Amino acid sequence: MLKELTQIFGVSGREKEIASYVAELVKPYVDEVKIDALGNVITYKKGTAANPKKIMASAHIDEIGFMVTKITDDGYLKVRAVGGISMYTSYANRIEFQNGVKGALMTETNIAEIGKNDVSKLYVDIGATSKEDAEKYVRVGDTAHYVGDCVELVSGRYMSKSFDDRIAAYILIQSIQQIKECPNDLYYVFSTQEELGLRGARVAAQGIHPDIGIALDVTTSFDTPDNKEGNVVLGGGAAIKAMDSSVICDEMLVNQMVEVAQRDNIHYQIEVLAAGGTDAGAINQSNDGVRSCGISIPNRYVHAPVSVVDMADVEACTALLTAFVCETFAF
Ligand code: CO
Ligand code: ZN
Repeated sequence: MLKELTQIFGVSGREKEIASYVAELVKPYVDEVKIDALGNVITYKKGTAANPKKIMASAHIDEIGFMVTKITDDGYLKVRAVGGISMYTSYANRIEFQNGVKGALMTETNIAEIGKNDVSKLYVDIGATSKEDAEKYVRVGDTAHYVGDCVELVSGRYMSKSFDDRIAAYILIQSIQQIKECPNDLYYVFSTQEELGLRGARVAAQGIHPDIGIALDVTTSFDTPDNKEGNVVLGGGAAIKAMDSSVICDEMLVNQMVEVAQRDNIHYQIEVLAAGGTDAGAINQSNDGVRSCGISIPNRYVHAPVSVVDMADVEACTALLTAFVCETFAF
């Protein structure tokens, strides 16, 4: 399942394929599944308590990618970024369109001279012999994602494209499958267009009107040769979010999540994400305001087609989510 989840097409705004894959997988385990106008997959599992809390846990199923802006006379494609694409992790890589057409991402500008990230310096070669030829396969406005297999590295680590945020979709699915009975009403949401500004989760939260929001998303690990700035490391356990650029997590929820981790012997660390927001921010500011928090998966090389996660962290995140959503909350 993890391999399929990472590979299925789902550039922001084009999540239909991944949405239907996920909806089919979770259907047997929940009371209701619906896909809304923005493409969010919203699942509902009824709680057993007399006074259940409504809990929305969100993992985004969109992935970053490229959109064609122009086809040149000689059949090359110019593209813009959909989400946070770095040209440095894109150059000399492969992409694939929704219809299966593949291409090479190249540049003729000296990388050293580009300085700041500039995706417009890239072009795509799909093998077309002319503009007319290219137009048989690709239209302006079409989107493409990275090619990047999900493979096992050593020591229980995996490398793939799109762990942001398909690894969290994997966690939500595992958690749904594990929960037999829960006091709270659970809304597990596979949200869309997160990479363009938390658009799917914002709309989903508006409709669900949750009491508590939890974002499941990746977070940068600080354990590479020259970057030890932050607290989170790969293999350090589930990262309990204190804040990111979209949200300050609810103090009571963070404390309770830490207590749950300690009680259940779940390996955890605290995360402060300096750059980048999550669905927690959108849920937090929906309706009359919603207490929100997050569980993050440590990730090396976020947004690169070679990003790396540790399965022990993934297991810890799943255990923490599953235990936390079935808690009783004192508000
Ligand atoms: Co992202
Ligand atoms: Zn993400």
